[in-house]
Amino acid sequence: MKRVLQSKKPLHGEISVPGDKSIGHRAVIFGSIAHGSSRVSNLSGGEDNQRTVQAFKDLGVKISSEGETLHIDGKGWEGLTAPKTTIDCGNSGTTMRLLSGVLAGRPFTTILDGDQSLRRRPMQRVIEPLSRMGANLVGREGRELAPLEINGGNLKGIEYSMPIASAQVKSAILLAGLQAEGVTIIEEPQNSRNHTELMIKGFGGEVGLDGRHVSVQGGQTLHGKDVRIPGDISSAAFFLVAAALIPASRIVVRRVGVNPTRDGVIEILRRMGAEIELLNATMRLKGVEIGAELVARTIDEYPILAIAAALAEGDTVISGVKELRFKESDRISAMSEGLRRLGVDVEEREDGLTIRGRETLQGNKVRSFGDHRIAMSLAIAGLCAEGGVEIDDAQCVAISFPTFFDLLDEICLP
Ligand code: S3P
Repeated sequence: MKRVLQSKKPLHGEISVPGDKSIGHRAVIFGSIAHGSSRVSNLSGGEDNQRTVQAFKDLGVKISSEGETLHIDGKGWEGLTAPKTTIDCGNSGTTMRLLSGVLAGRPFTTILDGDQSLRRRPMQRVIEPLSRMGANLVGREGRELAPLEINGGNLKGIEYSMPIASAQVKSAILLAGLQAEGVTIIEEPQNSRNHTELMIKGFGGEVGLDGRHVSVQGGQTLHGKDVRIPGDISSAAFFLVAAALIPASRIVVRRVGVNPTRDGVIEILRRMGAEIELLNATMRLKGVEIGAELVARTIDEYPILAIAAALAEGDTVISGVKELRFKESDRISAMSEGLRRLGVDVEEREDGLTIRGRETLQGNKVRSFGDHRIAMSLAIAGLCAEGGVEIDDAQCVAISFPTFFDLLDEICLP
């Protein structure tokens, strides 16, 4: 249980958020499948990234840490060996889906498992394309849920049109495509985050980019590289909204990655009237319509944007985000419940929410559903709620942002 009290003073300070979770997973993966040594700095200490590190250790890769830096001794794809036990991906969908792509091409059997939340999340989206490439993946319950058993090897490139925009699915196919015979071509309905494509290039490989098409030739050799991971915009988002909501706040978040495939939150907050760069005057945010075109660039920031909407003037209509129902929790219903407990009028639809902004939030006990981003969003709501909030299971913030509550204490003036 964690109590966050209403902040009656402006927020103030300079903070650094942990390294980007998405980039962290990929740095560890590419360091492990490349030839030669890689050093990864500013990897988040969050549990998700650490699951990926442990997974590659289980697959026989030598990974050691020296202070803040991770050393990876890559021996190419052949350096990966059958793990002795099931690989535990914990809460991390990215670990499970990207590893599925890696293991689809390896000639041994692996079982990937996860916690209760991950065992409920859809895996058919990777099983289908990877099976078409020639791998054998079997899950439970209609073969679509974790644990997944993967028997890999002998892949062929495919042309695949993705039914949903998902960087995890795209990345799984690209990682399999790098091991396949021939070319793999993927079409996305909307450009999702491009960290895997950038990693392929960064590690000396080639990737074709043409609008919503990404292609990769199999059989490329990748070379070790040093990667410095920027701060995570999805983690910075909590503090951007806090500063935008609490009058006269001034927060500097240092060294945040602002990759254009991830910056939807900045565009939306600016549309709501926030001044992102610096001093935020006593201006109130405005309700906005957020359509499906922003989903891929903003996918992880909807919970915290829902808090911004709850205190904005007018309605905010969020649509086209059915995918949020398949995250670490059903984020549409988790946010509706949390906001209602804080006195907000919310209309929940299958693919989104309408949030009627209020001037104040009522303090209350709220539920995180064990979802790190719900817990952090509700904590920011607590700063603006009369009497604050009490969040259950708040330690789940450690999934992506173990220092979250310490940073919150740092910027809240006593
Ligand atoms: C991620 C992609 C997104 C995002 C997740 C991280 C990634 O998921 O929600 O937190 O690193 O590729 P989807 O691919 O399911 O949209």
